[in-house]
Amino acid sequence: MEELQNQIRPLLAKLYPESDNRIEALSHQFVHLIDEHQAKRSEALKAFDKDTPANWFKSSETIAYILYADLFSPEAPQGQKLEALRKQIHYFNDLGINLIHILPLLKSSGDAGFAVDDYETVDEKLGTNQALQTLISECHQQGIHIALDFVLNHVSDKQTWAVAAKHNDPHYYPFFMWSHSGEPWEKVPDIFPDFAPGHWDYVEPLDQWVWSTFYKRRPFGYTTDQFDFAQWDLNYQNPDVLFGMINNLLTLANWGIDVFRLDAVPFLWKQPGTSCISLPQVHTLLKIFRLSLQSVAPKAVFLAEANEQFEKLLEYFGQGDQVQIAYHFTLMPYLWQAVTAGKVKDIQTVLTNTPDHTHWWILSESHDELSLEMLDKPIAKTLTESFLNNGCQPFRQIKGESFPRGISGTTFSLLQGDLRKIKLLWQLKLSLGWTPLFYMGEELGVENDLNYQKDPIRCQDSRFVKRVPLTEDRKNRRHQKGSKEYQWYHTLKDLISWRKQHPCLVKKPDFFETGNSAVLGFTKQDAQEQIIILANCSDLSQTVNVPTLGTPTLEAFEFLSR
Ligand code: GLC
Repeated sequence: MEELQNQIRPLLAKLYPESDNRIEALSHQFVHLIDEHQAKRSEALKAFDKDTPANWFKSSETIAYILYADLFSPEAPQGQKLEALRKQIHYFNDLGINLIHILPLLKSSGDAGFAVDDYETVDEKLGTNQALQTLISECHQQGIHIALDFVLNHVSDKQTWAVAAKHNDPHYYPFFMWSHSGEPWEKVPDIFPDFAPGHWDYVEPLDQWVWSTFYKRRPFGYTTDQFDFAQWDLNYQNPDVLFGMINNLLTLANWGIDVFRLDAVPFLWKQPGTSCISLPQVHTLLKIFRLSLQSVAPKAVFLAEANEQFEKLLEYFGQGDQVQIAYHFTLMPYLWQAVTAGKVKDIQTVLTNTPDHTHWWILSESHDELSLEMLDKPIAKTLTESFLNNGCQPFRQIKGESFPRGISGTTFSLLQGDLRKIKLLWQLKLSLGWTPLFYMGEELGVENDLNYQKDPIRCQDSRFVKRVPLTEDRKNRRHQKGSKEYQWYHTLKDLISWRKQHPCLVKKPDFFETGNSAVLGFTKQDAQEQIIILANCSDLSQTVNVPTLGTPTLEAFEFLSR
């Protein structure tokens, strides 16, 4: 414990320099908190920790899948969604999935669970804390790991701290950041410009404004409430907030969660005059969270949700002392650019620059929108226009700009159901390296669902277009030969099985020049085998000249591996 105290002291001192004389007391408080949670960890989880290899999440076997518990079992009665999920573990075993990310499942007021009301209680619409723990332990027994969101940047305005602050409680008021004017800060971008512009939410009882990056009840410039909940950012300049959130994290860790997705992590620290994104203090906070987690749940890992420029994104790995995994948000639009515009160079550049010590989740789709803002403007514009023409929806449309920053749509709808393109996208996801991630319904060719537009709360948030119930009917159609679901599901299932037969595919690719701007060429190698891959991302056949393979001709969207 003395060692832990020596580790935490400099981190706290960096974050709270003005409280120098309090650092000793704070580091004692930290050690005490860790102690408490270590004592609470169950014997079963301690045994699991012991049996789990340190780098389990880097295994070539790991294939991840992200879902909403309610949408995955729409027919199950309210309160029994987690139980229903447990009864469908065979679905994941069959497809070859062994890591399930269940989107937010704690008691919440909105934003599809990301406005958390209570960090210690499962949403009663989904099930009970006990049902979740049974699900986790059954998954663990079957070799499936579980990921959960840790929403650490903000709480819902119905969460206890927020309610107390709203009532001017002197202890909780400084858990948040306040303003008397609500004026936006110049350099800070709007994250949800479409329906929650600005940075402050009006709090009527106090006649003040509170900092809010995401959903706001009443944004600056509005005279009435837009929503019946808000997400209030936490003020990490107050150490009580940090300790409160460490306590929440460790409580969840003791439920047996394997991966914590750190939601909206770049926004944790605010400072006037800056963009308030990925400030240095965010990284100090991460080191403290990491130290806490590894002290209690030594095999649990962090996944960064940081939709940032690549160089900034890399900072989240620190010196091996921050997150273990990040979404490869830079690669994501490049994958789309490849299969829809036949341009592969950017994939090669970014992956060549991806350092060896980093580990990534490779995704083409998530529950959020597809951001194209990192692409060159002309191509971003062309792709956006074609996706909008296919019935996909704009997201993050800034007033005065001609096209939105993001597009909401399912993979099927974005690609207009072209199985050749989706197959290529999956082949790339499964072969480029690290851990592939699939979003619920991707495997069944689920189409956009415009029903959200009828819901007064959700209608402005186009991301709901792709939050579609996977009914029994839909899932069962995967057994019916000739159905779209059969075709898509079995295509993916076969590809996952191919990936698992070739463990070297988890490695970082070694690219070679194909002399053709639409054909990506790379090799994978381990002690057992070497694989050469050519991926033709254009809609025309292409001939390439590769010394080891001669001059093969690839059909449109053909993926060749030898
Ligand atoms: C993350 C989530 C998104 C949510 C936001 C606020 O970006 O992925 O769904 O709306 O954070 O929590």
